[in-house]
Amino acid sequence: MKKILIILLSIISVSCSYNNSISLESPNNEIKLNFELVDGVPTYSVNNKNKKVINLSKMGLLFNNKIDFSKNLTLSETKSRSFNNSWKPLYGEEEIISNNYNELIVSLNNDKYQMDIFFRVYNDGIAFKYVIPEQGGLNSYDIIDEMTEFNLSSKDSALWVPAFSYRRYEFLYANSSVDDISKKYYSKNVEDISYDTLGIDAAHTPLTIKKDNDLYISIHEANLVDYSSMTLKPNGNGKLEVELYPWSDGIKVKSTNGINSPWRTIQIANNSSELLNSNIILNLNDDPDENEDFSWVKPGKYMGVWWEMIGTNESTWWPSKNHGANNSKVMNYIDFASKHGFDGLLVEGWNKGWYPQWCCSGNGIPFIFTETVDDFNIELLSNYGKEKNISLVGHHETGGQIQNYENQLEDAFKLYNKYGIKNIKTGYVNDVSKNIKRIDEKGNIHKEWHHGQYMVNHFQKVIEMAAKYKLNIITHEPIKDTGLRRKYPNYISREGAKGQEFNGFWTNGVNHATDLPFTRMLSGPMDYTPGIFQLNNFRYDSPDSKIIDKGAIVPSTLAKELALYVVYYSPMQMAADLPKHYEKHLDAFEFIKNVPVDWSERVILNSSMSEYVTIARKDKNSNNWYVGGITDEKERNFVIDFSFLDNDKEYKMTIYSDTYNTHWKDNPMEYEIKSKAVTSEDNTNIYLAPGGGFAFEIKEITK
Ligand code: NOJ
Repeated sequence: MKKILIILLSIISVSCSYNNSISLESPNNEIKLNFELVDGVPTYSVNNKNKKVINLSKMGLLFNNKIDFSKNLTLSETKSRSFNNSWKPLYGEEEIISNNYNELIVSLNNDKYQMDIFFRVYNDGIAFKYVIPEQGGLNSYDIIDEMTEFNLSSKDSALWVPAFSYRRYEFLYANSSVDDISKKYYSKNVEDISYDTLGIDAAHTPLTIKKDNDLYISIHEANLVDYSSMTLKPNGNGKLEVELYPWSDGIKVKSTNGINSPWRTIQIANNSSELLNSNIILNLNDDPDENEDFSWVKPGKYMGVWWEMIGTNESTWWPSKNHGANNSKVMNYIDFASKHGFDGLLVEGWNKGWYPQWCCSGNGIPFIFTETVDDFNIELLSNYGKEKNISLVGHHETGGQIQNYENQLEDAFKLYNKYGIKNIKTGYVNDVSKNIKRIDEKGNIHKEWHHGQYMVNHFQKVIEMAAKYKLNIITHEPIKDTGLRRKYPNYISREGAKGQEFNGFWTNGVNHATDLPFTRMLSGPMDYTPGIFQLNNFRYDSPDSKIIDKGAIVPSTLAKELALYVVYYSPMQMAADLPKHYEKHLDAFEFIKNVPVDWSERVILNSSMSEYVTIARKDKNSNNWYVGGITDEKERNFVIDFSFLDNDKEYKMTIYSDTYNTHWKDNPMEYEIKSKAVTSEDNTNIYLAPGGGFAFEIKEITK
């Protein structure tokens, strides 16, 4: 990561109306944050021009040794500065990221101790974090509550998934008043989770809110390290309160050396497209340590011996006559992936420990990550791949058995190193609430939440160990993305929402795909695994019966599957379907082969939250542009204006679109491909079928 402009630091003036109230503005003066100590209670509020974003909201932390940093505080010092630089991520959606903010640090004291609150105000939102420096007399910093509030209005509506529930972040989105965030509401309107009685009513972040005053905001966190994950609990009258996932003993965060909390972030946008255009989360993370070299991290595209287990159901992860990960099949996939210019091939079910009942309670036979099953020869296959420029993508399904994985972690990574593997997909399927086994020093077993500090620290351990062995990690059932890929570029992608796989064994319905850009995708890249071409009649009842399940459909269109490579950003992007399905549509497959995974510019061309979105991206390594547009169940006609193209260039555009006969339910695989010349002066009409989409490849004509 390179600093490319001179950092501009200056002391800025902040306005203090009286001693205990201080306000801070964004560099463009549109967003205004006000900190105020009200009768000893720290509070903040936020305005965007003349619109209210956050009403007066309390802040603070409460510790188990009765040290209370939420009331009876005095203001001892304030500091402020402004900061403006740009930096270049190793890979990303934009080549140059501007980081421009004003900062205020307030130091607060109770009768004995000090807490600092850092505030930053950007042009696209605000952030704050709590810092408790190590200080004499304090030897435990165990947090029992974080008092942060986000005081909104009951008229503000949220797009949310339930926290404290069995399937982590893998839920469809509910849309309700912020006051209605509850398992009861969710069970009545989306999916029955009423039996899941552990834990409280709360939503995960990023939480997207459409405010009554037409602003769009997203509440999330940045730089979640050695802390517990934040959820948001409604408290009536439009108020949301932070609720941290507790350890099994009820403590929220354990520390012996001070507290440096994650940033609490509020992205603020005037419309849904602006919401998709923010770098606030990455800006609040750090560059890699100076002595760390991550130049070995390379974005890429991969295929996988995967959909045939999870989607078409013709193969098994475990040894059987239908075992997917067998030498000859893997070699065939390598041949296909190599012929079409891919970088990697994921193979699942290669190691020992898989058996039909492996899933999903955390009690299965522990996986062995250093031993292969008989019909998978890792040496043979990695050498075969090497000859064909394909490196195997490793797979570690842990079943949520953390101790078992950590015990083998380094040996497993060494094995992958030996065979030239560069990327590992990890998995943590354990579909029961508060069911991650932690074994303490005395051998006692405790059950932890998937998103508490224990797991946050586990994911951190994995990523640091992976960096040591020059391995990239793509996590399924992960902790949410809070921008750590800036400091650890090898944390290259993750799932963290209902992805394509649910369309394989269940269904996401037709409207989920247009929720994701406005929710999950605001946190970072997603391993959604797009590119399913056989959208119906694809799934067998069982690997043995080979009878087609007529009811199984992927609620999409073939053209929309192409669009997802542009709409859903991921530096490691999968072509998830089987070679035999791509063989039937090689003309459309051309788009997947050509679409880049590393970008220099992002332009949101149109959007309406949860209904449709069109994004244009410029390839980092050429002057070519790619456009993807997707719609929900409604058909749409767009006019795409090409003024984002360079105005001194001419381009040849290939259009991959639905036809007027295409429909996600009845006729999903009908598409057309056309070409035409375009310049920045042009525009074009494009039709999106119900549940459909389109993709453009716009290549510079070089003379
Ligand atoms: C769930 C993951 O999301 C999926 O991709 C994987 O194939 C299975 N777990 C098995 O590990």
